[in-house]
Amino acid sequence: MEKKVFEKAVSHLPSLSPVIRHVLSVISDPDSSSTDVARVLRLDPVIAGKILKLANSVYAGIPSTVSSLKNAVTFLGLKRISSLVLVYGFRIDSDCSAMPFSLKRFWRHSVSVALVAESIARYLKRYGVIDTDEVFSAALLHDIGKLVLGVISPEMISSSHNRASSETIPFYRAEDEKINHINIGEKLAEFWHLPADLQAAIAGHHWHIVPDNYLKLLSIIHISDIMVHILGFSVFENEMVPAIEELALREIQLPIERLRVVVDTALDDQKKIESVLEIFET
Ligand SMILES: [Fe+2]
Ligand SMILES: [Fe+2]
Repeated sequence: MEKKVFEKAVSHLPSLSPVIRHVLSVISDPDSSSTDVARVLRLDPVIAGKILKLANSVYAGIPSTVSSLKNAVTFLGLKRISSLVLVYGFRIDSDCSAMPFSLKRFWRHSVSVALVAESIARYLKRYGVIDTDEVFSAALLHDIGKLVLGVISPEMISSSHNRASSETIPFYRAEDEKINHINIGEKLAEFWHLPADLQAAIAGHHWHIVPDNYLKLLSIIHISDIMVHILGFSVFENEMVPAIEELALREIQLPIERLRVVVDTALDDQKKIESVLEIFET
């Protein structure tokens, strides 16, 4: 029975429109330049406009005047653009009407985790090489399986949520062992041919699979996810907050008081969150 539901769920994975797929394939081609990416982004004037707007928003920091799409692509980074295009593509191509949670809350959670993770990565960058562009993108997509499950099997999400509430356990621990936001997210990542780092973030943010080569990335995302939960930006209201893994804290070596400051700084300006959220609004 469960196998059947899983197969049914997998066969209903949302596909992306040809334009979005084309944009993503150009972005992921190592031989593509910012000019190539800007050219292909123009095929979808809405996303092109949103990216230009984001490059000039509070999110970008210092008052900037990025006037060309090519400069916006260079400024924001290819991985960041790629993850934004993915969620935008998902947003316009999926029917989310039966979703058992608020889409606004979902995106607010994901964007907050991305901003916090990026902020931790920036802080840690002074001690070693960290790709903040990669961290932002992986954090933005970490819970994409929840969204997919919400589209293809809203009743499963609702029953996990009810169980989590009645047993006062975190949502992910109340999910079905065989069909949950982690393995559906992994399937989607394969189906969309997402790069290995994004697949690792989706599979490992609750610490199920933690490959050595992604330990730092996963530690940052895992901690950011939980800090964002603590601050109340969870997908459902009053969700039980999961515990932070010791190994993740050891890996980032950030004293807890310093971590609080980094997290608060990342989220203190609501306008920053709003400017990224605009990408997903139609
Ligand atoms: Fe999750
Ligand atoms: Fe999350």
